[in-house]
Amino acid sequence: MFKGLFQTTKSPVKQEKLQFDTSDLDMNNIPKHIAIIMDGNGRWAKAQGKVRTYGHQRGAETLKKIVRAANDLGVKVISAYAFSTENWKRPITEVNFIMDLLSRYLTSEIQEFNDNNVQVRFLGSRAGLPQIVQEKMDNAIRQTQNNTGIILNLAINYGGQAEILHAVQSIAQEVYEGKLDVSSINNKVFEEHLYTQGLPAPDLLIRPGGDLRISNFLLWQIAYAEIWTTKTYWPDFTPDHLVEAILAYQGRERRYGGLVTK
Ligand code: FPP
Repeated sequence: MFKGLFQTTKSPVKQEKLQFDTSDLDMNNIPKHIAIIMDGNGRWAKAQGKVRTYGHQRGAETLKKIVRAANDLGVKVISAYAFSTENWKRPITEVNFIMDLLSRYLTSEIQEFNDNNVQVRFLGSRAGLPQIVQEKMDNAIRQTQNNTGIILNLAINYGGQAEILHAVQSIAQEVYEGKLDVSSINNKVFEEHLYTQGLPAPDLLIRPGGDLRISNFLLWQIAYAEIWTTKTYWPDFTPDHLVEAILAYQGRERRYGGLVTK
């Protein structure tokens, strides 16, 4: 288990696991939900003289480290953008590689998830995903559903606009069937029809790779998220970057459109 972070014991095994400095963090103000746009894999690989897909492979390893670190810091939910509804436009070889990588990841990481008490969920549409990937997704949900630590939302075939349309369609259907009054549709009802149903909205959105875009990620949910970006490519992103992002978050004043009264 990767649990030694805040323990003061001098045990060499536990010390070995203290892999990043958290001394400046306010442990009472850790973001509950962090959304991550895992960008820059292709450019990272190119800079190494490697093919783009090698960057995705390294990106998957980075995700593992960041989920461990976030779990240790007490983050409750990580939402990671693995494949967007627009990523189907990429060359078929790259799409196939990512699908295969997801499939392998969802097999090889089950033990890791269970050892670290990680519950896996998915955001996005199943339509068009290879059968094998869907089976691995179902299996990952089943095998980790009783874990009580961090929730890892993997966004696969996800688009924020598609998610909103999907919610609108299911709400309209309920109205049509007489199960819902138009006058009772409010934020809470709407949010119950999103893939993130039951979860708090992201407090912090992290985008590595240097681009300053939302890229159709969690459009409804990030309304008041604090945004933090770095030029570092995702495969080079470390738990220290995560701490840096959380420190920046802790320095922000969250007003939600109101005024802060001092
Ligand atoms: C963006 O980098 C990344 C993606 C479109 C795919 C993200 C996939 C992974 C991190 C690996 C798969 C994840 C798991 C969980 C197995 P990019 O290709 O757009 O990079 P670029 O902007 O440098 O071209």
